[in-house]
Amino acid sequence: METIRDAGIDELMAICGGCLSCATCHVYVDPVSLAKLPPISVDEDDLLDSSEHRTAQSRLSCQIILSEELDGLAASIAPED
Ligand code: FES
Repeated sequence: METIRDAGIDELMAICGGCLSCATCHVYVDPVSLAKLPPISVDEDDLLDSSEHRTAQSRLSCQIILSEELDGLAASIAPED
């Protein structure tokens, strides 16, 4: 989430600042990178359930910690709910 915002992309609201309480940082992660992410937490899963736009590729970007293993990760910002 911070990487997206630091890139000057302001379509990502991220209202709660990464506190896992808003779901406005919802993104769709490419399938290859998605498989490398840690399992979704119960709290992230619950928040994503509040989105009408949830898909199998949905994650909250504030919960993704970038690492070298995730180099090349592609994500698109989910529509606003
Ligand atoms: S920024 Fe609010 S849940 Fe990610």
